[in-house]
Amino acid sequence: MSLHTVIPSGRPLFDAASLCADLTRQGWSQQSLGDTALLAALRDEATALWQADALSRAGIGRASDHELVREIRRDKTRWFDGSSPAQRRWLGFAEDLRLELNQRLALGLFSFEAHYAVYEPGGFYRRHLDSFRGARNRILSSVLYLNPDWQAGDGGLLRLYDERDDSVIADIIPEHGTFAVFLSEEIPHEVTPALAPRFSIAGWHRCNDLGRAPALQARVLPIAPV
Ligand code: OGA
Ligand code: MN
Repeated sequence: MSLHTVIPSGRPLFDAASLCADLTRQGWSQQSLGDTALLAALRDEATALWQADALSRAGIGRASDHELVREIRRDKTRWFDGSSPAQRRWLGFAEDLRLELNQRLALGLFSFEAHYAVYEPGGFYRRHLDSFRGARNRILSSVLYLNPDWQAGDGGLLRLYDERDDSVIADIIPEHGTFAVFLSEEIPHEVTPALAPRFSIAGWHRCNDLGRAPALQARVLPIAPV
């Protein structure tokens, strides 16, 4: 059974089976979401928040040295609070994804958080992991891109690395509707400098359990029977 069969029309559709197979095999997946109305609503809200100066300079953990932070990341963010229909639909989509991943891969995902992010021209995010290995904190990272007019020369790539040999395993172009997911503890990644304003929603599925979810403790994930 895939999301094609369980999600009523109007939700963003993608193939949950292929996403889970990718995650199991390589720790990341790239999908394309086709719900143009939802993408437009999310993009409109992100643009309006940006134009109203309602996004904040992003930080790093508890770091308080703002100059140091600016050498590492230069995006502006605003956390979702569920205050608009578009946000609620995206949170609903994340909940459907959570249930699919728990059912298929036994990830034990418990909660989800997300923020809009804007990289203004010159913005970047140097190579990092979203969670320390073994932290059992953020389990799955996801990014939905909201850039209808992205050009080949605009940069802003999501670059994924193989943690074992530092080779580049993927360059993901932040085109409208592209949806990237990867294991937070296993995939180092960066955002290369963007030359045009770059809009996205970054999200993290978290686990509520510090010792369990054995499926994630080996690099190769078993696929639960469905
Ligand atoms: C992040 C991040 C990637 C992207 O916010 O932690 O790595 O492509 N974002 O925006
Ligand atoms: Mn990241």
